[in-house]
Amino acid sequence: MASVTATAGANIALVKYWGKRSLEGNLPAVGSLSITLQALRSRTEVAPAPGLERDDVVLNGRRDEGQARRVVDTLERIRALARDAGVATAPPPAVVRSENNFPTGAGLASSASGFAALVVAAAAAYGLTLAPARLSALARAGSGSAARSIFGGFVEMARGEREDGSDAVARPLLPAADWPLEVVVAITARAEKAVGSTQGMNLTARTSPYWSGWLASQEADLEEARAAVMGRDFERLADVSEFSCLKMHGLAMSARPGLLYWNGATVECLQRIRALRRSGHAVFFTVDAGPQVKAVCAPAHVAPVRDALASVAGVDTLLHTPLGPGAHLLPDGAAPA
Ligand code: DP6
Repeated sequence: MASVTATAGANIALVKYWGKRSLEGNLPAVGSLSITLQALRSRTEVAPAPGLERDDVVLNGRRDEGQARRVVDTLERIRALARDAGVATAPPPAVVRSENNFPTGAGLASSASGFAALVVAAAAAYGLTLAPARLSALARAGSGSAARSIFGGFVEMARGEREDGSDAVARPLLPAADWPLEVVVAITARAEKAVGSTQGMNLTARTSPYWSGWLASQEADLEEARAAVMGRDFERLADVSEFSCLKMHGLAMSARPGLLYWNGATVECLQRIRALRRSGHAVFFTVDAGPQVKAVCAPAHVAPVRDALASVAGVDTLLHTPLGPGAHLLPDGAAPA
């Protein structure tokens, strides 16, 4: 069994995933729709090592028991598949090394790119050839949003109905090259977020009086966004994406205690992006479970968006990325992502 390396891009949801229908298997309460990013990446190496007593997991240079748990669970699922498929009778533990090229834990979906790269590398390392939908289900069991990073460009994640989660998988909607939007990310804080997504969404489902409205209104947003993507209709996608983003944050704020992921610079960025759009620029915002703002724009509008966000007090750094491909293997010895 050889050492295998894979890479995956982070993704950002335009129609948000927030809440689980089952904690078992990490099944989402709602479908979602996202774009996969080119330049914000994880690179993950999996090396099965006969003789190793247990998996050795180092994420961004750190051994962290809590984080490693979900990685080990994912490896266990893949080893079970390898045993069932007869490709390995006793697949050994593995050495796992994963690095992100962007700040972890601050609402930039590091778990998405990390788990997508992990399942692609681990499946290959243990000798399995799996269909993309199977890889997506395995990634989802690690982190819901990771199911989407298996694919590139525009991606839709299904809520699914089945208890075993086999239909709670993502599928590609449109390749990046077919509608080459770009994303400017305004980093407004580098600290890890206080309440992680898993904890935040479970609290919201338990305590928010708006929870049923969230569930009932998601399908219409997905339909709207899907139609906007297929028709390359920027205004339509902008409207439904900002709606879904603000609805998710309104929902999270209505949990008890309320979840407030934004800081002052976050709000100022949202105002600037709205002003740009009113003045004719093709740009809209989205924000995940953290204070960073993602401005999605048509390529011709990137420069004014960068200038506007760079001048907001509290914006620390700007990242800029086109949309990118899905998770894939890297050849031996490839340069770090
Ligand atoms: C706000 O995928 O991080 O980014 O499934 O519990 O690991 P778990 O949650 P995670 O949640 C992402 C939430 C979000 C919206 C989204 O990406 O759709």
